[in-house]
Amino acid sequence: MNAIPAYLQQNYDWAYIRPGAVRLFERAWLVDLILWGNYRRLGDAALAALGEALPGRTLQIACVYGDLSLRIAARVPQDGMFEVIDVLPVQLENLRQKLPTEARVRISQQDSTALDMPDACQDRALLFFLMHEQPADARARTLAEALRVVKPGGKVVIVDFARPRWWHPLRYVWLPVLHQIEPFAADLWRGGVKSWLPESPLIAGMERTSYFGGMYQRIVLTRG
Ligand SMILES: C[S@@+](CC[C@H](N)C(=O)[O-])C[C@H]1O[C@@H](n2cnc3c(N)ncnc32)[C@H](O)[C@@H]1O
Repeated sequence: MNAIPAYLQQNYDWAYIRPGAVRLFERAWLVDLILWGNYRRLGDAALAALGEALPGRTLQIACVYGDLSLRIAARVPQDGMFEVIDVLPVQLENLRQKLPTEARVRISQQDSTALDMPDACQDRALLFFLMHEQPADARARTLAEALRVVKPGGKVVIVDFARPRWWHPLRYVWLPVLHQIEPFAADLWRGGVKSWLPESPLIAGMERTSYFGGMYQRIVLTRG
């Protein structure tokens, strides 16, 4: 069993760990409200980047409230494999309860910074709003692990915060609030992608798309 990372315990007890957190946040309308009405749109963006059909092996790194994992599972063919890892057993149990009994999803307790799987075993991996929750060192290790386990030619899809454009009112209202409750999130809007996305010989290509006035972004890395 992997230990709960200190950053998660210290900063995200209220969102993921504390009894009642799952009951409170596992509501589609609440997740959507927290994302200013963009949950569906950002989920669509993640799915579009992963692919219409998901043959082979698909990895979701960290659980997500709402129906995103169910939507991914629905795209995995009979002979495909969908795996979801998370470091918190309570989150994995919540996912188990959300999935239909026939869903073929492998769920395991793992730390994103040290994945227990061989190199180049996945066709694609998704990181949905995980990057902003991790301090820089954990974020870099998670990205390195995602790139390690995805096959050459495969994709690592990241959906997360970014710096809203200057005219965006939430840039001045919401970001300071977020900064208080999510202390590492500012890393993602302070210096742009290059400041937190490490240069790696395993990255052969990168495409970035902005959403909601720049407040959210999707990054698709192609594994070299
Ligand atoms: C993907 S993130 C944010 C999801 C987003 N707030 C939502 O629900 O729409 C939340 C998950 O990341 C998981 N997590 C954080 N650090 C992790 C790590 N080092 N390894 C695996 N899972 C991690 C947490 O346990 C939590 O279930």
